[in-house]
Order: sequence, then C-alpha cells, then structure tokens
Amino acid sequence: MPKPTFYITTPIYYPSGNMHIGHTYTTVAADTMTRFKKQTGYDTYFLTGTDEHGQKIERKAAEAGVTPQQFVDKIVAETKDLWKLMNIEYDDFIRTTEDRHMKIVQKIFKQFYDQGDIYKSEYEGLYCTPCESFWTPTQVKDGKCPDCGRPVEPMKEESYFFRMSKYQDWMIQYIEDHPDFIQPPSRANEMLNNFLRPGLQDLCVSRTSFKWGVPVDFDPNHVVYVWIDALSNYITALGYGTDHDEKFKKYWPADVHLVGKEIVRFHTIYWPIMLHALGLPLPKQVFGHGWLLFGEDKMSKSKGNIVYPGPIVKRYGVDALRYYLMREMPFGADGNYTNEALLTRMNADLVNDLGNLVSRTVAMIEKYFDGVVPAPAGYEGPDLDQIAHFEALPAIVEEQMNKLQFSVALSEIWKLIGECNKYIDLTQPWVLCKSEENRPRLGTVMYVLAECIRAIAVYIQPTMPSTPARIYQQLGVTDAALMTWESVKAFGQLKPGTVVKKGEALFPRVDIKKELEAMAAEKEKELKAAEKAAKKEEKKAEKPAEKSNDGIASFDDFMKIKLVAAKVIACERVEKSDKLLKETLDIGGGKTKTVCSGIAKYYTPEEMVGKTVVLVNNFAPRKMAGQVSEGMLLCAEDPDGRVRLLTVDGDVAAGSEIG
Ligand code: MSP
Repeated sequence: MPKPTFYITTPIYYPSGNMHIGHTYTTVAADTMTRFKKQTGYDTYFLTGTDEHGQKIERKAAEAGVTPQQFVDKIVAETKDLWKLMNIEYDDFIRTTEDRHMKIVQKIFKQFYDQGDIYKSEYEGLYCTPCESFWTPTQVKDGKCPDCGRPVEPMKEESYFFRMSKYQDWMIQYIEDHPDFIQPPSRANEMLNNFLRPGLQDLCVSRTSFKWGVPVDFDPNHVVYVWIDALSNYITALGYGTDHDEKFKKYWPADVHLVGKEIVRFHTIYWPIMLHALGLPLPKQVFGHGWLLFGEDKMSKSKGNIVYPGPIVKRYGVDALRYYLMREMPFGADGNYTNEALLTRMNADLVNDLGNLVSRTVAMIEKYFDGVVPAPAGYEGPDLDQIAHFEALPAIVEEQMNKLQFSVALSEIWKLIGECNKYIDLTQPWVLCKSEENRPRLGTVMYVLAECIRAIAVYIQPTMPSTPARIYQQLGVTDAALMTWESVKAFGQLKPGTVVKKGEALFPRVDIKKELEAMAAEKEKELKAAEKAAKKEEKKAEKPAEKSNDGIASFDDFMKIKLVAAKVIACERVEKSDKLLKETLDIGGGKTKTVCSGIAKYYTPEEMVGKTVVLVNNFAPRKMAGQVSEGMLLCAEDPDGRVRLLTVDGDVAAGSEIG
C-alpha cells in the first residue's frame, strides 16, 4: 500500500533583509507538522522558498547599490543558513527567479489571457510597496496601508487586469460549502464580510513602471504582478505545466498552506480563483496563523523592535526556541514575545519538568538497579493510571496536531511529564529502596518511568528534533523500532535489561535576571551599531559633489541633467536624522519618486505638501540615512544661510520638463 501523501507549504519569503523570529514562526510550524506527519506514516512534501521579484526588492537593491539579482542571491543564501540553524528540513526551496518557475508563470499568464480572464486597461489607485498590494482610496486609513500601516503611493499605469469579479459568487459559495478550507473560521468570515460580499474588484496583474519581475512574453513592457508570480510557486515547484509533473500529480492539491494572517486574503481569494481558472483543484486548507508581537506591535525593522533567532539559538539551543514558538501561543492567535517568557518557559517546562524527570529516573535506575532497566513485577493503582494515560495519549496528540494546535498537543504531552513527576512523589522510590521486600515494586516503578520517558522522546521529536537522541542515549534505547509513533500506542515496548547511562542535563537552568540583563546589553550594542551605521550613511550623503576639473560646463554637460517639475504629494521626517525630509513626488504619467533632502531645519513636512518643486530626475538612486533617494530637489541659500526651495510658478503639470 503506498503511503498517504501530505503536502505542506510556507509562504515564500521576501528576501528583503534579515529574517526575525516572526518569520521563523511559520517555518518552524511547517517543519514540526511535516515531521509529525512523517512520523505518523505519511509521504510528506514540505515546500518553502523566496519571493524575489517586485518593486520592493528592486528598491531595496538600489538602496544597497547592487543589482536586484545580486541583492536576492545574498539574502537567499542567508535565509537558507537560517533554516539550517533552525533545523528546518524542507524538500524543496523554490526561488521565483528560477527558470523552472518563471517559464510556467508566463505560460499561466498567457493561458489566462487567451481564455479571456485577463484584459488590458489602465490602473489608477493606491499601492503599498512593502506589502505589494493595491488599495482603493476608501480602503486606506489616513493615507496608510490597512495591513502594515505604512504610507501608500498613488499609482497610474497601463496594466492587465484579472476578471476576479467573474468568480466572486463561485468563491463565496466555495468558502461556505467548505468550512475547513479557511482556518481558523474567524478568518473565513473576515474574507467573506470584508472582501467578497461587498464586491470583488478586478485585480491589476501586471506592472509597467519597473522591470524586476517575470516579463509578460506577449507584451514585454509589462511584468507579472508579484503576487500572481509568487502564488504560482506552490505548483511550479511541483513541475506543473512541464513534462516532469510527477510530483504535481502526486502531491497536488496541497493539504495545507500555512500563512500569516495578513496574507490570508491572497491565499483564499486570488489564489483559489487562479487555480479554478486553470481548472485545478484547490488546496484543502489555508491556515492563517497569528503574529508574534513585540509589545503592541508586529516585529518589523522599521519599528526597530526586531528579535533575531541567531543569538537566542546560540545562547539556549535551537530546540528551546522551537519549543517556545510552538508552545507559547495558540496557533491562530497573536502572542507577545518577551525574553522573560522564553526563559521562564525554559526553566519551568524544559529544565524542571522534562529535564528533571529524565535525570532523576536515570539516576534512580543507576542507583537502585546498577543502571539496568528492571522487569516490571505486576501493575497496581498508580501504575495503571500511568499506563492508561500513556495509551490514551497518541489519539489526543494526533487529533490536536492534525488541527495544527501545536500548543495544545504540547501541553497534553507535558501533562504526561507532569504525571510522571507526580508518580515519583506518590510512589516514593527513596522509601521503597529501603527494604528488599519492596524491590519488585521499585522495579515496576522504574520500568513505568523509563517507558513513559521513551514515549515522551517520541512525542517531542517533531517540535524538538535534536533532543530525543539525547534522551535515548541516556535511556540506552538504540532500537529504531522503539523510536516510532507505532511504538507509543501500546505500553511496555522497552526491553527490561536495557542499560541506562546518566548524561549531561538536557537543558541547563538559567538565571533569569542575569540572562535578561545580558540579552538587554546585547540588544543595546546592536542598536548602537545600527545608529552608527546610519550616521555614517548620512555623513556620506552630505558630502558636496566633486567639482569638475575646470568648473566650466559645456551646453552638452548641462543638457545631460534632466530637470522636471514635481509635485510633493507626501512628506515625512526621516527617522534617526534631524536634517532629512523624505518627499514622495508625483512626476507625472502616474509615476512617483521618493527623494530625501537636507531641509528639515527649514521646512515642516506639512509646508512641503502641495509645492511644485524642481527635481533632478536622472540621478542614480543613493542611500541616505537608510532611505533610498531617487533624485535631488534644487534649492538656493538666502543671505542668512537659510535654504529655500526652487518652486515652479503657476499651474504646471507634474512631470513637465524644465530647461
Ligand atoms: N512574500 C510574501 C508571501 C508570498 S506567498 C506566495 C510574504 N513574505 S514575508 O517574508 O513578508 O512573510 C513571510 C511569512 O512570515 C508570512 O506568513 C508572515 O505572516 C510571516 N511573518 C512575518 N512577520 C511575522 C510575525 N511577527 N509573526 C508571525 N509571522 C509573521 O508575505
């Protein structure tokens, strides 16, 4: 009989900067689930990867002064290292810049066009570059993206559109008929009430104002909208649309797409509609998990509240972090990350409960039975309770894991650990050992404990993949058959006569106060280094441009400079700089540019908005205080040294050439 299949995916990550523990969360969950399904007899396939196209990546690359390809290559390598560090075992890592992906995206796009799902028109609306998503004026709040809270930009350009509206009723019906499709159910209601029932708009699915994307092969001015490109990864990775589509045939439809709550909309509306239009079955489930918050906020670089996994893993080990992530908050809900909660859990659950149980039991078997697991001599009251608990647990854990309720499954496993510790207090081996008459009873107690610990090692394997081997080593378990899911279904598989061997404590106890201080000091160092780097950038940006040799410019030199009239449509102060303002400029033709100018001492952001200024429009983008500046505004200095902007008189259209 072939094994049943299980296909699970994480979102493909934007390779836009360092990955923090919020990103790690989805991947650890997917890895835990994959390991669990493998353990319980499935032929699993776990896909992750990187979402490498789009305006956001193009801008980030410009900020870093490298090509987009160089930019993503570097971060992809770092991402893979991070997954190694987190002990993530994926089956495939897809990059959207790979040929195997791009060719099929082009094919899919063409099919949509040929069958009339896509038409050409013009987009005019708002765009959030960090989220790569389109918004209407009624959806944005105070000019900010409703998903991430960052400013949106006006956008006007020729685009292809997907007739999402055509599929609206079908989508509503599908969600209503398949209550398990979107989990948790509250997210399904959100999709129905906020997006589908009010009326689904056609989606802009190509861009013309930048180049970093999959080219539309039949209209090369366009690149495919990054979400259409990215979502397709779930099938292109399996060889869909090629002659080698064995994996696609075997694993599609996916059993579950794990995604953070802010991208549920893309996965439960646009993606299913794309699949339906291609005549393909839909994934069985999309699970929208919550966010790992830091204080009130989602972790984000711009908020400066990032926690990185590297230092935590270095201090406490990868299994401790994986356990914390899966145990601390119910999968689906938001939860707060604090160093204190991490350390408290480590000491309570890992050191006191699990670690102590293992070390006490092994020490007792060494002391009372020369390190040899005794044969049980009949079971009575408390033993029978333990055995009943042991045998009931597989079904409970399986049920919770299959619902992706990692924290509930772990708390059930920890109940058995807790029961074992209570069982020691109840049976009092240190009293039993005092008389020869009680030796058989003492043997039973030791056997029950050793057998329970063996099962616990099996249960924790998906979440904490490197800890079981250390337990088996202490317990003397070498037979692979005793490490399987099957082996925990019936009590009594551990062979009497097995030789135990005390080893190092599984988890060292931490002094919470000291550790918190050390972690805070490390963070401070990190922040100072970031500030220093930002200041250095700012200084570099302030250096006057190099003078030409003779100070004389020819007419041709002058003509090289492209000056245009630009309208300031948004303006804000640049964090960490008291000199810079960041302006968003309308440069005509539906395009915008972002420019940083050293005028914060002379103008407030409010004064700037609405002015028509003179922009040097053909400078290479450069980085200033961590921001990309795509040009320069012309200014003059008055006799008091105050900087005044050159503005354009009258009603000149944005984008008009000057010269
Ligand atoms: N590239 C898109 C996904 C395309 S899928 C076809 C994307 N990338 S991302 O890098 O921004 O996010 C990847 C995943 O990390 C998302 O599921 C996101 O929700 C998750 N997380 C990022 N920060 C998070 C927290 N602070 N907490 C929990 N998960 C969060 O979106």
